[in-house]
Amino acid sequence: MSTPTLDKAAGHSDALDAAEAGAGHLITITMRVRRFNPEVSDTVEWVDYQFPIDPKERVLDALHKIKWELDGTLTFRRSCAHGICGSDAMRINGRNRLACKTLIKDLNPEKPITVEPIKGLTVLKDLIVDMDPFFQAYRDVMPFLITKGNEPTRERLQSAEDRERFDDTTKCILCAACTSSCPVFWNDGQYFGPAAIVNAHRFIFDSRDEGGEQRLEILNDKDGVWRCRTTFNCTDACPRGIEVTKAIQEVKRALITRRF
Ligand code: SF4
Ligand code: FES
Repeated sequence: MSTPTLDKAAGHSDALDAAEAGAGHLITITMRVRRFNPEVSDTVEWVDYQFPIDPKERVLDALHKIKWELDGTLTFRRSCAHGICGSDAMRINGRNRLACKTLIKDLNPEKPITVEPIKGLTVLKDLIVDMDPFFQAYRDVMPFLITKGNEPTRERLQSAEDRERFDDTTKCILCAACTSSCPVFWNDGQYFGPAAIVNAHRFIFDSRDEGGEQRLEILNDKDGVWRCRTTFNCTDACPRGIEVTKAIQEVKRALITRRF
């Protein structure tokens, strides 16, 4: 295991030094990152990076620091940096989280902070996994409004009570933290997974939608909702606080009662 380090006095740009001058006190952390580059080697390597950082910074800031100052080959996804795009889900200290929503100070930074890719999806490079199976399951549940004509002249009206029925599941940002924390999904990757079911729920319980029966049949499949073992990993992992397991239970109930 190699240990690139960054001395505060050396290797800093003026801009970063200026930013840090306005920051709180710095602590030195060790970030232990699982590295894998199939173009170089078939083996996985854990690499320790030591550097000073304000503990109020986020894991995403620490990863940027590594990439911009210590090792430009480190590869990870991120876009919005504010918990909206869902692209930086990763396992941080063994738990699925968004790097941009996780503060260093909340991670027991006296010990090495481990960062690795989410599980159950093929690792392409470093912290990047192949999201295609995840998005295919999402597409399979038809995550769009289905109506059979009767175009309204203005908007399709809905009561506040009816809107409330699927409010929670509208918050999904498709980060895959839930699906990749699910032991059933790890086992064979065939299970639709919690995120696809959450997004099916969002339309099944929408009073304006007329594709509920179709979606329920899709999820009645052997790889559908009945594979869920109610372990609550998904609910614990969701950075949006969605009650994922409850949504899955509601879809199961709708399948039995055919009422939604
Ligand atoms: S339900 Fe939560 S954890 Fe799952 S994909 Fe959506 S936002 Fe991410
Ligand atoms: S970078 Fe967009 S959610 Fe974290």
